Order: sequence, then structure tokens, then C-alpha cells
Amino acid sequence: MAETQSNQFSKGLEGVIAAETKIGFVDGINGRLVYRGYDISTLVEQSNYEEVSYLLLYGKLPTEAEYNDYVSKLKELMYLDDDVYDLITEVAAKAHPMSTLRTVVSYIGGKNPESVEPDNKAQSDFSVDLIAKMPAIVAAIKRASSGEDYIKPDKDLSYAANFFYQSFGKKPDTVEAKLLDTALILHADHGMNASTFSGMLTISTLSDMYSAVTAAIATLKGPLHGGANERALALIRRVGTPENAEKVLSEMMANKEKIMGFGHRVYKVYDPRAKILKGYAEYITTKNNEQNLFKTANKIEELMVSKLGEKGIFPNVDFYSGMLYASMGFSPEIFTPMFALGRISGWTARALEYLENNRLYRPKAAYIGEEGPKNYVPINER
Ligand code: CMC
Repeated sequence: MAETQSNQFSKGLEGVIAAETKIGFVDGINGRLVYRGYDISTLVEQSNYEEVSYLLLYGKLPTEAEYNDYVSKLKELMYLDDDVYDLITEVAAKAHPMSTLRTVVSYIGGKNPESVEPDNKAQSDFSVDLIAKMPAIVAAIKRASSGEDYIKPDKDLSYAANFFYQSFGKKPDTVEAKLLDTALILHADHGMNASTFSGMLTISTLSDMYSAVTAAIATLKGPLHGGANERALALIRRVGTPENAEKVLSEMMANKEKIMGFGHRVYKVYDPRAKILKGYAEYITTKNNEQNLFKTANKIEELMVSKLGEKGIFPNVDFYSGMLYASMGFSPEIFTPMFALGRISGWTARALEYLENNRLYRPKAAYIGEEGPKNYVPINER
């Protein structure tokens, strides 16, 4: 059937409700983020990433036995085969870590013969497989990108601590482990953002979870979504000192440049994730004697809020996450893969939820071209 004109066109699908969910709620007016009824600040204080991941996937907090089972399953599946490490080494030598991540997840899916025409139970198993393997994949990409050999996971460490260990070859201290765990929880789910939608769109064709996550990674890569944290840190470093902030921001605004790490399609108030990360960023930059970085960021925030706060432009999660990761020793090109490491639980949970009551996504485009029919002019007469 031909596309028809529509008077309900919404650019960027803004305001369009394209699914029902019980997984998470982004309250853009009151600045709250809720996973299955729990406020993120409660989860950050009292839970951990493994439990949050279970909560997102299965809809409730696990009992102790369920938690232990889930963690054992993650530990059983967290190892990568040698050929996956070889692929990481080869691709990471040439590509951006997000391209490597996309390629590797796709490859792991391709290695799994059951990922063709799987049922919902299999999709759920693939989800746990992906969640389990992500720390090893992202850490190996981080190391391969700077020419270092991979480090195998340590079965005695938590999810977040294991990622740190595989990234640096040393165990994190308590604060570093808590910071990483917090960042992972805060990135775990965020409504129907572009990458989550991309994953849902893919699964809605009854494709498989590895393909859905590959699509989600490809979508997260862009600077308007996951890629902003890398650029936000670059901006803070470029500004360099609080005194320089006014001049740089004024120039950027005069050139109509977007300031990375600010603004959000849903939050028109302070992003609650940024609020939590800001506290940690202040702590860790002070601990590392990098107060200037934090002070510069704070000045940028102050100026942005005074200039654009009335338009609902405030710091988003990416503004402080980059600084936090850098202070732990991660280099900027690995920030977006770290975003994916947290978001893997939300991507898979939402795709599984959508599958339970699947309907192929198929929006329409309003045709605004010429109606014709035009006469075809042969190429040599044009
Ligand atoms: N810097 C300067 N001006 C901005 C910014 C910004 N970061 N964000 C929005 N504005 C202005 C925008 O130019 C517009 O001005 P005007 O009314 O004069 O045309 C006004 O504020 C409204 O903005 P908008 O573009 O309609 O807002 P949006 O909902 O379409 O955009 C956004 C949301 C995230 C794409 C945008 O704010 C942006 O590009 N931010 C920078 C990139 C960034 O930090 N992305 C990470 C998002 S958080 C991570 C995640 O959850 O994915």
C-alpha cells in the first residue's frame, strides 16, 4: 500500500508513544529516573549492578537464592573464546572502540548457531550471555586499543570490579569499585532512547538478541547519544580553567555549536543521573588532585544554566561521567563502550519485554515529493 500523507508527523518521533513498558520511567518534569518502581538513588545506595540487571530483566528484586544463581550464571558465561580476543586485537588496531564493540557482539552472535530463529526463552538466555560477556569485551577493547594484551576475568570479583580488573590488571579499591558500579546502575536503562529503540525495532522483526544489541551499539555510537561524554570531557579540557569558560562558551554559542553534555530530549530539569555523578566526580577529582578539572566543569555548568536554564538545558549524564572515568584512568574513546556496558541490561530487558507482545515496528513517512506521474527521460537526453 502506498504511503499516505499524514498530519501527525512528529520530527524525531518526539512525543510519540511507541510501546508500553513496566521497566523504567524517565520523569523529565520532576527529574526522576525509576527502574521497576525503584528510584535510581535508592538502587545506587542499596543495591549493585548485578541485582539491578536482574531487576530490569525479570521484573522484581531477586531472592538471595535467585541472586546467587544469577551471579553464578554471569560468572559461568563471562569468559571469551580465544578467537574473540583475536578479533578484538585485529579490529581495535584500526577502528574506534565503538566500531570494534559492534563488530565483536555481531561476531559472537554469528558464532552461536542457535541465534538463528530463536524462541523467547533463547532470547532471554542470549541476553544473560551478552550481559555476562560485556565487561570482558569492553575491557579487552580498551587494552587492545592501546596495544596491550587482554586479561582474563577473575571469578572472585563483582561485575564492576571485574571490569576494572580486566581493564587495568589491578583490583579496584573500594571507592573505585563503588564508582563504577554506580555509573553502571545509572546507565542501565533510560526509557525509549535511540539505542534502546533501535534494539527493539530489530527484535520486532523476530531477529535475534545479538543482532538487536549490535543495532543498539551502532545507534549509541553517535555524538547526540552515547558519544557525548567523550566530547564533553574534551570541552572541559579545552576550556582548561574556570576563568576561560565564559569566552569559550560565548564563542561556541555565537557559532551555534551544541555544548556536549547539556540538554536532553526528555529531562527539562537537572538530569538525576548527572546529580549523582557530579558528587562522585567532585570526590574523585579532589582525591586525585585534579580540582581544576572539576572547578572548570562547575563553571561551565553555572554559565550554561544561567544562559540556557530557562530553555530546560541542564547537565546530562554525559557531562560528569567522562570526568569520572578519566579520573579512574580510562581514556575518552572507551567512555561510550562503558555506557554500553551499563546499558546492556536495559537494551536486553526492553527487547525481551517487547517480544512478549510483539508487533513489527512499521511507521510511515509523509510523502512530500512530487506526485507525478512524470515522464521518464532517457539518460542520453537529460
Ligand atoms: N548546547 C547548546 N544549546 C542547546 C543544547 C546544547 N547542548 N541543547 C539544546 N540546546 C538548545 C537548542 O539549540 C534549542 O535552541 P533554540 O530554541 O534556540 O532552537 C533549544 O536548546 C532546545 O533544544 P532542542 O535541540 O530542541 O532539544 P532536543 O530535545 O532536540 O535535544 C539533545 C536534545 C540531547 C539532542 C541536545 O540537547 C543536544 O544535542 N545536546 C548535546 C549532546 C548531548 O549531550 N547528548 C547526550 C544526551 S544524554 C545521554 C542520553 O541519555 O542519551
